[in-house]
Amino acid sequence: MAKTKTFTCTACGATQSKWSGRCEACGAWNTIREKAPLTAGPPAKSLGTKRGSALPLSDLQTQEAPPGRSRAGLDELDRVLGGGLVPASAILVGGDPGIGKSTLLLQAAAAFALGGLSTLYVTGEEAAAQLRMRAGRLGLQEAPVRIAADTNLRDILTTLEAERPELVIIDSIQTMWADHVDSAPGSVAQVRAAAHELTTFAKRRGAAVIMVGHVTKEGQIAGPRVVEHMVDTVLYFEGERGHQFRILRSVKNRFGPADEIGVFEMTGAGLAEVPNPSELFLLGRGDPAPGSVVFAGIEGTRPVLVELQALVAPTPQAQPRRAVVGWDGARLAMVLAVLEARCAIPFAGLDVYLNVAGGMKIAEPAADLAVAAALLSAREDTALPAETVVFGEISLSGALRPVAQSENRLKEARKLGFTSAITPAGGKAAQASGMQLARPGDLTAFVGEVFGAG
Ligand code: TYD
Ligand code: MG
Repeated sequence: MAKTKTFTCTACGATQSKWSGRCEACGAWNTIREKAPLTAGPPAKSLGTKRGSALPLSDLQTQEAPPGRSRAGLDELDRVLGGGLVPASAILVGGDPGIGKSTLLLQAAAAFALGGLSTLYVTGEEAAAQLRMRAGRLGLQEAPVRIAADTNLRDILTTLEAERPELVIIDSIQTMWADHVDSAPGSVAQVRAAAHELTTFAKRRGAAVIMVGHVTKEGQIAGPRVVEHMVDTVLYFEGERGHQFRILRSVKNRFGPADEIGVFEMTGAGLAEVPNPSELFLLGRGDPAPGSVVFAGIEGTRPVLVELQALVAPTPQAQPRRAVVGWDGARLAMVLAVLEARCAIPFAGLDVYLNVAGGMKIAEPAADLAVAAALLSAREDTALPAETVVFGEISLSGALRPVAQSENRLKEARKLGFTSAITPAGGKAAQASGMQLARPGDLTAFVGEVFGAG
């Protein structure tokens, strides 16, 4: 087979068929290099079928028993993975620097290793001694985790072939350096090459490979997004630096539901699991105050109650501020517009601030009604009745739409001592919950019902 040359840009990773002085994709000068062949191409049987052949799906199932999952015994992590670790899978754990990725993965490595999985932790960021210190702090010195401090991809693959671990942790993918790729560690081309080779190793040897990727602001270092498509599972570790809560969220999972979350608390001795996040998110909520509303949400398979806080204040500025933390700014603009257009409640001349308490991020449209309630409550300076949760979607017409899993939301609210709920009429009636329900049909009815006099 005639070998055709390809050329790649060391800055953006684009490939082109001929050399040129300037990259056609990103416009950078002197960044085009001939692409060296990979040290090992994808092996013929890497994904379970022979090269150049196909099999019926039913055959595949009978050929090999579905791989068993391994559990960490950290319930929050196991659930986010979709029920444990799948062999021959590649997992990316992204997050801001300093958020706790190394801490989480060292704890996970120890837990998996104690569960009997042969585990190798490759650190390219910390020296082995530093890692040992961290393990000491976490009380994990005795865990049977093997450590390799290395950044050279070729050496790491040699180690992996020799040790054949069942679980490999690569901390981080941005420090890995493949000597056949002619660009600096952390560049798109390097990060892609390393992720590709490590994923190939996972598939070939049936190992689970977890790669850490730092989220980076635009710059020399390529973020985790450039390898999201190569891996089976993508998890993001989020949280506000000033808050102790950390949320592990699955944004892609070939072996389980996406959008699942695991909640952790950063303590002096590492990350502690938070089995009941609602309790934590509602902690410190005082007496009912104007602008504060409890939203009964669903995160993945679990109901989670969170407090929304709104502040509405007059401003002399011609362009009032709309600031939002933990929710979508465009969605806030929409709710404000619907309140103005359908209920004749103006927000012109008023600054609007919206905050999701506890550093939580919400993406559900079901939060619309809770946001509207918080905005109105802040604007009217009237607190909502105590022990009330709110959820429902608002459409542009001002109609309210019932949302999925009402029953679960109400059950969770009841469990935490709430006695009433405001949720759109229609949909499956969830009367069995024992909660007192207000069920307005549209936003005007909602405003009348809740803020009658206002
Ligand atoms: P780290 O896991 O190193 O973050 P990442 O790998 O994502 O860059 O965590 C860094 C922060 O976590 C650091 O600021 C200190 C804090 N931390 C604790 O609060 N308690 C602990 O037990 C540990 C190990 C870290
Ligand atoms: Mg780290």
